[in-house]
Amino acid sequence: TPRVFSGVQPSGDLHLGNYLGAIRRFVEVQDTGVETIYCMVDLHAITVWQDPADLARSTRTLCAGYLAAGIDPQKSILINQSQVPEHAQLAWIFNCVARMGWMQRMTQFKDKVGKNAQNASLGLFAYPALMAADILIYHATHVPVGEDQKQHVELTRDIAAKFNHDYDVDFFPMTEPVIEGAATRVMSLRDGSKKMSKSDPSDASRINMMDDADTIARKIRRAKTDPDALPSEVAGLEERPEARNLVNIYAGLNDQSVDQVLEEVGGRQFSEFKPMLAELAVSKLAPISTEMTRLLADPGEIDRILASGAQRARAITAPILARTYEIVGMVGPV
Ligand code: TYM
Repeated sequence: TPRVFSGVQPSGDLHLGNYLGAIRRFVEVQDTGVETIYCMVDLHAITVWQDPADLARSTRTLCAGYLAAGIDPQKSILINQSQVPEHAQLAWIFNCVARMGWMQRMTQFKDKVGKNAQNASLGLFAYPALMAADILIYHATHVPVGEDQKQHVELTRDIAAKFNHDYDVDFFPMTEPVIEGAATRVMSLRDGSKKMSKSDPSDASRINMMDDADTIARKIRRAKTDPDALPSEVAGLEERPEARNLVNIYAGLNDQSVDQVLEEVGGRQFSEFKPMLAELAVSKLAPISTEMTRLLADPGEIDRILASGAQRARAITAPILARTYEIVGMVGPV
């Protein structure tokens, strides 16, 4: 039976890329009725320095974001990673399964550290092994993510296969990444060759979930574009990354395919399309940010939801960790 797991880092602001590439998809998957577990990965966040008060605030804000977007804590298990200790315990085992060479090939690590790898934390290097543990401590079969996490899910399969092979068991499943929809890679509003990211120093490069209507409209108005009108077919977006990105965002927000959007807006100038996009973005995002603000007024309720999620999660993770330890030869019981 399918079981779905995914996570988002509580660091910085949630942006449109996180929403369209991940959280919105999480809601769709939840509503198909399969078992879903969604996580705030605070242990991943601290692989780079986080101010403690900011980490706690970002974790609760992310939880509010999940809830406001439509994650239902009755239907999904909603957890904060550090509250389910089996993630970190399995990660240690996986640190001993994964090879240095595999980790060195991870493009996200290379992009993040650039030429300064000696100064990166050991945790940042080991990050994908913890991610594999997040997924496999549930025996999750499917992981909805944005395009940028594909390599990490593939590494998860490599780790599962090596564990199964080394210990001669058929224990961990081969997890599938699920990368679907029009907006699996939302790009920066300032540069169509860079992905929209929390770590971009320019706030104008991204739309944050908590931006107000004026800010959203201004960022879209100023988004980089080319001078041509919109094409009426997808082929006309080739070599036009900024135009492609705005059309993708429109399609993602409006639950349409790119073809459908172009049928509607083909031939229009950006001076006409941008206000349409701004209006659509505000109409989809404003209710979410209003609800987030309401939820954040009662952090006690958020903490109760997380405590109950952790309890439900551990009913799954504790037996899987115990069996893993037994396979490895650790003397129990744990
Ligand atoms: P993170 O926190 O960087 O991003 C969370 C999710 O948002 C997606 N995403 C995007 N999608 C489209 N366009 C963008 N510009 C964009 N930016 C981010 C990401 O693909 C991701 O799905 N390592 C993960 C967190 C993680 C995880 C896991 C995910 C930890 N353990 C286990 C799945 C399963 C990360 O840093 O995501």
